[in-house]
This record gives sequence, structure tokens and C-alpha cells, in this order.
Amino acid sequence: MSGKEALDPERIPRHIAIIMDGNGRWATSRGLKRYLGHNKGVEAVREAVEGCVEIGVSYLTVFAFSTENWQRPKSEVDALMSLLVKSLHSEVPTMDRNGVRLSAFGDLDSLPSRARKNLEKAMEQTRHNQRLNFNLALSYSARWEILEAVRKIAEKVEAGMLRPSDISDDILRQNMASWPLPDPELLIRTSGEQRISNFLLWQIAYTELYFTPVLWPDFKRTHLFEAVAEFQRRQRRFGLTDEQIVGQAHLKPARAAIKKTD
Ligand code: FPP
Repeated sequence: MSGKEALDPERIPRHIAIIMDGNGRWATSRGLKRYLGHNKGVEAVREAVEGCVEIGVSYLTVFAFSTENWQRPKSEVDALMSLLVKSLHSEVPTMDRNGVRLSAFGDLDSLPSRARKNLEKAMEQTRHNQRLNFNLALSYSARWEILEAVRKIAEKVEAGMLRPSDISDDILRQNMASWPLPDPELLIRTSGEQRISNFLLWQIAYTELYFTPVLWPDFKRTHLFEAVAEFQRRQRRFGLTDEQIVGQAHLKPARAAIKKTD
């Protein structure tokens, strides 16, 4: 396993996204209730946040609760919402001290009011921080986000504020719930599943995907560093040829990638 010393500080991904998966299996394999896996998952969130701060990642986005997760048993949904409130209380003071700015995107109006109020408070408390932007995707799905953006754009067209021919990549992005997040360079999914599960579908067009068998509650910052090391071993091409990439040799690959997608 790589330590952070093995990483090239010039090629740290600017934005890492994580699908935190395996909490339920972690708990049931120990004969525990599923919610205890989610509780333990909070420690892994802390590891990921602190790991990102240590190596200088600017944005970390985690899939904390999907639109589909509302269909889980009510007891599990309630446990997750209570855990969100509890975790905001326990984690935000340290995040604030570490220069972490907390944000959230998704259908936030569908959250219980206690969760929404605590979230708003935490976002307000940390909004001046600049070291790491830590984003929670909550009551989120990528298809929901794209549909909402299309609806908003259609309304602007109907109101005469926009012509159909003006609709571009940028216009679509600017109407998405996750705006103004940059595209992630690296997406990590834990627990051995190799799916995207309706997460950031538009934004991951050129993202490097990294799948690890580690269950989310066991995820430590060393696993994050290993994923970044693997990212640094890959050559990102953006549809170009090897020769064209070599032609950009004055830029190291990850930086070239950032420049192209900015
Ligand atoms: C997936 O594991 C995980 C989730 C649905 C929730 C993630 C939540 C946390 C890590 C806790 C911290 C975040 C908040 C919002 C408090 P799973 O239950 O799908 O695992 P399984 O596939 O093994 O059943």
C-alpha cells in the first residue's frame, strides 16, 4: 500500500468523488444491525476528509444518500437522518479547525427539517474555509439532477430568457444542482461493486474510475492515497492520441487534464 510520500504533489487530483458502499455488509458480516455499519462509516468519512486535506485535494464529494435510498426500510432511513445530524455536531468543529468548507447538493427540500436546518448551520459556519470543499450529495441522483436542469432551462426558454440554440455544455452545467463543482478527476467506489449507481453521470465523462474491495467502514486514508497513486499511474487522454498527449509533455498529465476541462 502506498503512503502519501509516494505521491507526486504536482499531480494530486483536484476533485475526488466517492461512492461509499458496503456499510450494511460490514455490519451483517459481524452479526450487527445495518445502522451500526453506517455509524462506523462516519469514521471512514473523517479519514477521507483528513486524507484529502493532507495531500492537498481541493474538492471531495461523497454520495451520502441517494434518491433511491428513501425506499429503504423507514427505520434505516431514520437512522441515517439521525446520524447525519449527530455527525454534523461531532465532526463540523474539527472540519472547521482544519479549514474544511462543508456544502451539500441534491433534493435538500426532501430532507427532514431538523437535518436541513443543521446542514444549513454547518454550511454557514464553514463557508469562509478554503482548504477543502467537502460536498455531501444528499437525496441525490444524477438523473434527477439532469432532469431538474432540463426543466429549469425549458422554463428560461419559455420565458424568452434563452434561445434553444444557446443551450450548451456550460448552460446545462450551470443549471445543475452540483454547480459550480468542477468535474471529478477520480471516482472511488468501495465494497467491490463496479457500478456508478446514478452518481454524477454528466460530470464523470472523463473521470478515472477506481474500484476497491474494501468495505466503506474499513476505508482509511492509506486507501485514499493508494487510489491517488493508481490515478497517477494512469495516462488520461480525453479522446486524444498518445502522440498528442506527449505533445503536452510540458504539462504533467493530471494538470493537462485540469486545464482542458476547466
Ligand atoms: C452504502 O452502504 C452507504 C450508504 C447508503 C450511506 C452512507 C452513509 C455513511 C457513510 C454515513 C455518513 C453519512 C451520513 C449522511 C450520516 P450500504 O448500506 O448500501 O451497504 P451494503 O451495500 O453493504 O448494504
